[in-house]
Amino acid sequence: VFAVGNPDAQIMLIGEAPGYEEEQKREPFVGPAGQKLTGILTAMGLQRSDVYISNICKFRPATAGDQGTSNRAPTDVEMAACLPFILTEISIVAPRVIIALGATACKGLGIGEGVTRLRGKFYDVQGVPTMVTYHPSYILREERLAGGGLRAKREVWEDMLKVMEKTGMPISEKQRGYFKK
Ligand code: URA
Repeated sequence: VFAVGNPDAQIMLIGEAPGYEEEQKREPFVGPAGQKLTGILTAMGLQRSDVYISNICKFRPATAGDQGTSNRAPTDVEMAACLPFILTEISIVAPRVIIALGATACKGLGIGEGVTRLRGKFYDVQGVPTMVTYHPSYILREERLAGGGLRAKREVWEDMLKVMEKTGMPISEKQRGYFKK
């Protein structure tokens, strides 16, 4: 499942790996997590076609037997096999900012482990400032809990505001206040 979007994008997003829906449609982030990601982009004033959306692993990691619709995270070996492709994508797109979505992308890009500790800051990946934030599926999980995921949404949103500032995007007062109580 190759990347999708604008090869001249200012913002490149890197997720984990395609899941069931992505494998069917051969497009990253088209399942439930993808819909959440599209919502985040809309809140930023962006369309999917404005950004470049990729994954740290290019194929859906297989499980033994009939996999059904279940997914798993890629192993270190699987990510290492895909890393040359991702690094080449970064050099071709040459985005102003990368957004690493979740722990797997963060680890695969060599930023480190522990997305809760690492998120909200920029790290250098091949000379490109890279923001670490939660994966959209984390928001989906949090939404099912008491509180409806408001804290997770606000944290991701604060990370996105930093990306918008870094890329010089306009930010309205209304946007600054999203996902506050
Ligand atoms: N989750 C990801 O990390 N990537 C996808 O493409 C879809 C879901």
